[in-house]
Amino acid sequence: MPVTAVSGSASGIGAAVCTALRAAGHRIIGIDRVNAEVIADLSTRQGRQTAVAQVLEQSGGVLDGLVCCAGLGVTAPSSSLLLAVNYFGVSELLDGLADALAKGQHPAALVIGSVAATQPGADQQPMVKALLAGDEAQALALANALGQPHIAYACSKYAVTCDARRKSVQWAAQGIRLNVIAPGAVETPLHQAAKGDARYGKAVSEFVAPLGRAGHPEEIAQVVVFLQSDQASFVTGSVVFVDGGMDAMVRAQHV
Ligand code: NAI
Repeated sequence: MPVTAVSGSASGIGAAVCTALRAAGHRIIGIDRVNAEVIADLSTRQGRQTAVAQVLEQSGGVLDGLVCCAGLGVTAPSSSLLLAVNYFGVSELLDGLADALAKGQHPAALVIGSVAATQPGADQQPMVKALLAGDEAQALALANALGQPHIAYACSKYAVTCDARRKSVQWAAQGIRLNVIAPGAVETPLHQAAKGDARYGKAVSEFVAPLGRAGHPEEIAQVVVFLQSDQASFVTGSVVFVDGGMDAMVRAQHV
């Protein structure tokens, strides 16, 4: 039975991923702040180290899969907390669990990014450079100084996508696949909170995908199951948009 660790397992997309992977025969080690096999706070280095140590203990040091879903949206208490969870809470899990994945059967890892990663100008933000350099203190300080959670969110998702693609190249030699899914709007507590936010609610509600609706968490989870399966054995380093056509609507000429 493949063993897969899933962060953000207690809610939304992560919970749907756990259900779908269990149905596909995986044993799941969920990681979250509550209601999970591993209780850890991914916003701190100590919490990430706890998460890695407990996953290694519960898996016996061998993992077949890792899916990083935990994340905060634009209603996060601060931009720095958002970056800490969305970037370092992913990057450090990938680093900490790479050796266990290398020992797994047909290992595959996956990061939940976002269409927000393609937001114009996100790639030029100084905080992205700090994130990709692993300078957490500098990145968090820059994000708080800017005080624009939607830009911090886009930067966190752009940087985490770049980090995953860089790692996919390094990890290929060990036979570990690593992909990114970029969801559009998906009906989860995170999305509901954004729609109800005084600053962002109107824009979020009015930005509707060509398919005319937001996605359901299960519609992301099914693509996760495929990418984590041997049916996707030649897919690595890819960014798969699962967004009801949002990216095509905004960037048809970007291929
Ligand atoms: P959600 O709020 O339903 O679930 C997020 C999970 O992450 C929660 O269980 C939460 O407890 C966990 N989490 C947050 N901070 C944590 C921390 N410090 N330590 C440990 N766990 C923590 O949100 P949703 O929508 O399921 O989000 C999952 C991922 O999908 C996130 O990375 C989000 O950015 C991404 N995403 C969501 C979209 C949407 O419209 N819902 C669109 C694009 C991307």
